[in-house]
Amino acid sequence: MAEYKEAPANAPLAEKALTWIDNRFPLTAMWKAHLSEYYAPKNFNFWYFFGSLALLVLVIQIVTGIFLVMYYKPDASLNASGIPVAFASVEYIMRDVSWGWLIRYMHSTGASAFFVVVYLHMARGLLYGSYRKPRELVWIFGVAIFLCLMAEAFFGYLLPWGQMSFWGAQVIVNLFSAIPFIGPDLSVWIRGDYVVSDATLNRFFAFHVIAIPLVLIGLVAAHIIALHEVGSNNPDGVDIKAKKDASGKPLDGIPFHPYYTVHDIMGVGVFLMIFSAVIFFAPTAGGFFLEYNNFIPADPLKTPAHIAPVWYFTPYYSILRATTEHFLFWYLVPGVIGFGVLVFLTAKCQAYKLGVPAVAAALVLGFFAFEAKFWGVVLMGAAVLILFSLPWIDQSPVRSIRYRPGWHKWLYGIFFVNFFVLGYLGILPPSPVGSVVSEIGTVIYFGFFLLMPWWSRMGEFKPVPERVTFEAH
Ligand code: HEM
Repeated sequence: MAEYKEAPANAPLAEKALTWIDNRFPLTAMWKAHLSEYYAPKNFNFWYFFGSLALLVLVIQIVTGIFLVMYYKPDASLNASGIPVAFASVEYIMRDVSWGWLIRYMHSTGASAFFVVVYLHMARGLLYGSYRKPRELVWIFGVAIFLCLMAEAFFGYLLPWGQMSFWGAQVIVNLFSAIPFIGPDLSVWIRGDYVVSDATLNRFFAFHVIAIPLVLIGLVAAHIIALHEVGSNNPDGVDIKAKKDASGKPLDGIPFHPYYTVHDIMGVGVFLMIFSAVIFFAPTAGGFFLEYNNFIPADPLKTPAHIAPVWYFTPYYSILRATTEHFLFWYLVPGVIGFGVLVFLTAKCQAYKLGVPAVAAALVLGFFAFEAKFWGVVLMGAAVLILFSLPWIDQSPVRSIRYRPGWHKWLYGIFFVNFFVLGYLGILPPSPVGSVVSEIGTVIYFGFFLLMPWWSRMGEFKPVPERVTFEAH
């Protein structure tokens, strides 16, 4: 227990109040540990805006969500005009509730903004090797946050009960029925019915408004606590704790408050300008943030011609669609056999040398045993889960892209462009050319990660400076 302090008798009331609180709750200690005496590297650039922006969007989503829940009704039954109650309640918010349209557009734009910000935040982690030792847990909590965000967005999209809400949920829940043996029962269990229905809407509502947000908030707290335990990385990937002054402060560190609170306010300003521009001038973003089909009430008897998820899911959706029988036998079988042989020939650890080829052989048998749709679901899941392994598969002697060989930069470039191409193809209806490109894109996506233990060590690395590179401006 901390020592009991006494404020001087003539101290101002505010100081006395703070002392009173500090004797009961570590307010000043927390302020110091996380803000005024949290030493962050002095060379942060714009990539470091996105963590605080993700926090801001989280708050926007929670606050606007609370107001939406005051008027929204998770009810699939039809009202007197023959419109589903849930759909009508969203229209009521848009047309009749004071400022309801603003709250709703803030929430729908916030969903896309969340993914823009988080994708950029993750890209920064990738470029600067922020997931490397000792920040593995920061990254693992981050990937768990990403999974929760995807679940949150998926559950939320059903709530307006429009055509895309209904048919999107139908397609995704049906994917679970591809799982061997338990699949069909599992998808009925998830829906709570044989088709997407009122029961599904109610449970998705429960998950969207309370279950996932609780987990999300907990994970974000864990993410930041883990980060502050080890300290932030920076664009040079230099460990600032290695060089300290006589008082023990990192030579290249500056207190987070006031320096980065001010820095982050600039990011917030730019973000809010773009965010407001979308809300006020293009709230549907041309069908990307709110799909046009979702302005039509859900109709279980009318399947839309083209069902596509919202843009942030489309890279993964492309991977799902690419996994056909053709892909399985022409790409995956040779790819998995080749990978097994590579590990067998190069691994030093006996467990990998035998374990990975055994898993590869089992997978090849599995490709023949189970249908391609099931493997599509597996690959789509694996595309996200593989991110957990990054801290261990990256074997490069340096953290930051700045000190890697030039061709590594090209590899990262190809990876990012490929991710965009997969995302773009996932928006389009299937086509013969699109299928071939997504097949190649899927190979590039997985190749980047699976071959990382080899390529990340190769090439000529530049010497990493002892101190961060920084020019005052
Ligand atoms: C709700 C979502 C998220 C919030 C609110 C959040 C918040 C933050 C904040 C405030 C920071 C410190 C400031 C900064 O470095 O930008 C940070 C750092 C970090 N985050 Fe996140 N984050 C989120 C999602 C993610 C995800 C999805 C990942 C990765 C999969 C991730 C990985 C990291 C890493 C590796 C760092 C350390 C970066 C460094 O020191 O260079 N975060 N996060």
